[in-house]
Amino acid sequence: MSATSPSRAVLPPDIRGRKGQLPLVVLTAYTTPGARLVDAHCDIALVGDSVGMVLHGMPSTLGVTMEMMILHGRAVVRGLTKAMAVIDMPFGSYEESPQQAYRNAARLMAETGAPAVKLEGGAHMAETIAFLVKRGVPVMAHIGLTPQAVNTLGGYKVVGRDGEANTVMEDALAVQAAGAFAVVLEKVPMGLAARITQRLEIPTIGIGAGVQCDGQVLVMEDMLGLFTDFRPKFVKRYAELGAMALEAIADYAAEVRGRQFPAEEHSFPDVLKGPKT
Ligand code: KIV
Repeated sequence: MSATSPSRAVLPPDIRGRKGQLPLVVLTAYTTPGARLVDAHCDIALVGDSVGMVLHGMPSTLGVTMEMMILHGRAVVRGLTKAMAVIDMPFGSYEESPQQAYRNAARLMAETGAPAVKLEGGAHMAETIAFLVKRGVPVMAHIGLTPQAVNTLGGYKVVGRDGEANTVMEDALAVQAAGAFAVVLEKVPMGLAARITQRLEIPTIGIGAGVQCDGQVLVMEDMLGLFTDFRPKFVKRYAELGAMALEAIADYAAEVRGRQFPAEEHSFPDVLKGPKT
């Protein structure tokens, strides 16, 4: 199978067809082992530009490059057998013009094998979304809090309260009219997210947007509790892997220092008695 052929069981029309059905389950993945975990239970593995903050220690997603997305995108696609990969377009790779967006979206798809891209922005990105969709690039839109605009928004705030609600609704309608197959609603108040979900014919995928969305997305490391000091309100921690890992590493360090590891069973004898191992 070539990197550019549609090798996944789930493709954008399947996701579009899930409107109002069983909720869509989406997690981020950045690596092959991560993708295998997502593939076991989810519909979509999102290669989010959150990779910059989660794996590379960046202060925001603004420094993420095309090369990083391609490297992580390839690793994720290798780990999937059923779930669909969606790959984020990084900051600066699509905002200048529809042509720039097409060039970079086509490169992301061709070089990773992901069958769809995600980009941030509502009504002001509608022309670009339409340009991409008409040329064979399935687009998942992302509105509400758009982290690449953190400096314009003034922080990672809830978007859509009071006077902002109409703008978010207009953004949702605009990306749908432009041909997006689904839309992420990030940090949108739950009542507004429910109204948008009712009004749209494409699935809404919420993150901090309440239970009425057509699906949910979380950063895998957040829901696994990998970071002991990062606890946003919209994340439910389904495990405490960070604390478990710290405990395991402390045990390892103590055993190395106490010469308890490696034990005999982890070492190779000088003379073999049984079968070769
Ligand atoms: O980059 C990302 O992980 C995302 C999700 C949080 C929606 O865009």
